Amino acid sequence: MPQTATAPTSTAIQQTDFLPLEGTDYVEFYVGNAKQAAHFYKTAFGFQSLAYSGPETGVKDKVSYAIRQNKLTFVFTTALRNNSTIAQHVHVHGDGVKMLALRVPDASSARHETTTRGAESFLEPVTLKDEFGEVVMSGIRTYGETVHLFIERKNYKGAFMPGYREWKTLYNPPQTGLLYVDHCVGNVGWNQMNKWVKFYQDVMGFKNILSFDDSDISTEYSALMSKVMSSGNGYVKFPINEPAEGKKKSQVEEYLDFYNGEGCQHVALATHDIVDTVTQLQNRGVEFLKVPTTYYDDLQQRVGKIDEDISSLKELGILVDRDNEGYLLQIFTRPVEDRPTLFFEIIQRKGAKSFGKGNFKALFEAIEREQAARGNL
Ligand code: FE2
Repeated sequence: MPQTATAPTSTAIQQTDFLPLEGTDYVEFYVGNAKQAAHFYKTAFGFQSLAYSGPETGVKDKVSYAIRQNKLTFVFTTALRNNSTIAQHVHVHGDGVKMLALRVPDASSARHETTTRGAESFLEPVTLKDEFGEVVMSGIRTYGETVHLFIERKNYKGAFMPGYREWKTLYNPPQTGLLYVDHCVGNVGWNQMNKWVKFYQDVMGFKNILSFDDSDISTEYSALMSKVMSSGNGYVKFPINEPAEGKKKSQVEEYLDFYNGEGCQHVALATHDIVDTVTQLQNRGVEFLKVPTTYYDDLQQRVGKIDEDISSLKELGILVDRDNEGYLLQIFTRPVEDRPTLFFEIIQRKGAKSFGKGNFKALFEAIEREQAARGNL
């Protein structure tokens, strides 16, 4: 069978990988007001106007804005009528992630391979065409009401996809250095983590690359368990959290309460210069979780020598963790909507392939302080 891979090693991987993934294509949010959401993410996070879909492009029941920053594409979709599954989704969950769309070489094969392994179909393969070419799209359901779309766009040259027109605006705030999706975390219900680990193993061919139990991730009150699932090539990583028993309510339970079910907890966005990116984000109004400044007192001892100036990290509240392969820098936003549900992580990896286990205690204590302030601990 002919292979298009450039290196012999990846040829071997492709032959055994029934679901080759080329990365995250886009993340689509169902929201109450897509126009204002797109404005917020342009203004606060530095996304650029990309494409628009709505009544003017022949779509009568919904409006979508696609925005982009480097390899990151977000889509915000809102219903125009109340008798809509999108309106219902927003009513139940608030604003949240609906589609984690993955780029594939063959969307029909992706749906076939996953549904024959037990996935529930969301969308039969459809070919969308316009004057710029065609996109083939299919989809399966994952936890909660969340969906994985498979996007095949090798024969498309337009701004985003058929059904959209290029969106040009006079208001174009500069980018902030956000590059691509590093990972997307799902929160699932009590005792549901292993079910979804098995789903990603069996249905999508992912591997469990890391596990954290409640002895790793437990503070005085709030506890969770987590397993990190990765595609064979590592381009797509989905950690899965479930709540664990603690003295008081788990942060995952608070999410499940307010999202009314399982869903995407956070999307981690990569940068090559976290100090610069976070400085810009803070200046534009993005709010971050704060750890006590004592976190920085023994930072050098814990993580060894790092390139960054510790006083800058301390000023911004950026956390550092080291593993066998290097270190990483990370920081978490506060929830980006009024319900305590979705938030973002900003991450810079300097060799480390892990997820900041050394920061869990400081971080979760910061989350608990906010949970307590909301009366949800
Ligand atoms: Fe994360």
